[in-house]
Amino acid sequence: MSSHVARVFSGVQPTGNLHLGNYLGAIKNFVALQDTHPCLYCVVDLHAITVFQDPAELRHNTREVAAAFIAAGVDPKQHIIFNQAQVPEHAELAWVLNCVARMGWLNRMTQFKEKAGKDREKASVGLYVYPNLMAADILLYRATHVPVGEDQKQHIELARDIAQKFNNDFDKPDFFPQPEPLIQGPATRVMSLRDGTKKMSKSDPSDLARITMLDTPDEIARKIRKAKTDPDALPDTVSALDARPEAANLLGIYAALADRPLAGVVDEFAGAQFSKLKEELAELATATIGPIGAEMQRLMDDPTGVDAALADGAARARAIADGVMQDVRAAVGFLQTPAP
Ligand code: TRP
Repeated sequence: MSSHVARVFSGVQPTGNLHLGNYLGAIKNFVALQDTHPCLYCVVDLHAITVFQDPAELRHNTREVAAAFIAAGVDPKQHIIFNQAQVPEHAELAWVLNCVARMGWLNRMTQFKEKAGKDREKASVGLYVYPNLMAADILLYRATHVPVGEDQKQHIELARDIAQKFNNDFDKPDFFPQPEPLIQGPATRVMSLRDGTKKMSKSDPSDLARITMLDTPDEIARKIRKAKTDPDALPDTVSALDARPEAANLLGIYAALADRPLAGVVDEFAGAQFSKLKEELAELATATIGPIGAEMQRLMDDPTGVDAALADGAARARAIADGVMQDVRAAVGFLQTPAP
């Protein structure tokens, strides 16, 4: 049995256009976990630069993710929000883990293959070892639970393998815990409003494909009204949704925003036209995410409060990271000056 205390860690990349998929797939779950676990939520700027980021935009986007955490209800006093670059131990542990993880393990990562595309020779080296940095993020705090979307499950499995190999290599069976992925609810995969078979994405060329966290209530309602539909009335079973991607997406979003099981929502709208669902979804979405966007905007208008929360979070994260890193250095055999 593991002797590690429960602790939640998760990260969101500051790459702009934070959208409904990020909210329902990640941030909303972060908020819920605060009641049961001590939580660290990290704006992973070191991950973001695996693909070139304009420096001014990176600064802006880092603040924007932090503002989203706070506006959605993460309490930066009870828990810890911070950006990765302010805690240099992330990069230090990542280096050690680069030397623990095997090439063969990383070669299996499907997200690298997708992101690097055809011209793998031109991908940054950072993009390739990114899963090791993600393992370092988690293990630096000996986190036990990691809320993530389905697409990150393979990276958590890698983190488990790395933790186990480290523990074996250095003969410290309980050094790092085995982190568990927490994959939430039906709407962890929010799809494009223009194509129910494609994920909602920050980079979709059509603005109508996504609802962003900073959309005004009017924009939110307009995008839902224009969402793609199919010609039939809404189905009366969840299984019928397999063949109805647009209906599945809108009903799934409705269920997630309402905190209700999908089956109940399907029942409620069975036989109705899309227009009725859209009308009610627009109302629900503006009522739930509208105020979060407004609060984010307020925080962004003068980001000194956000910056202060990030600095305070980094100091508190570092206090934990420092202890673990001392243990890592000792385990690996690095000479270090004892604390004064
Ligand atoms: N790789 C994650 C993503 O792109 C973000 C991330 C970085 C993360 N480090 C993490 C998530 C640690 C969970 C735990 O979504």
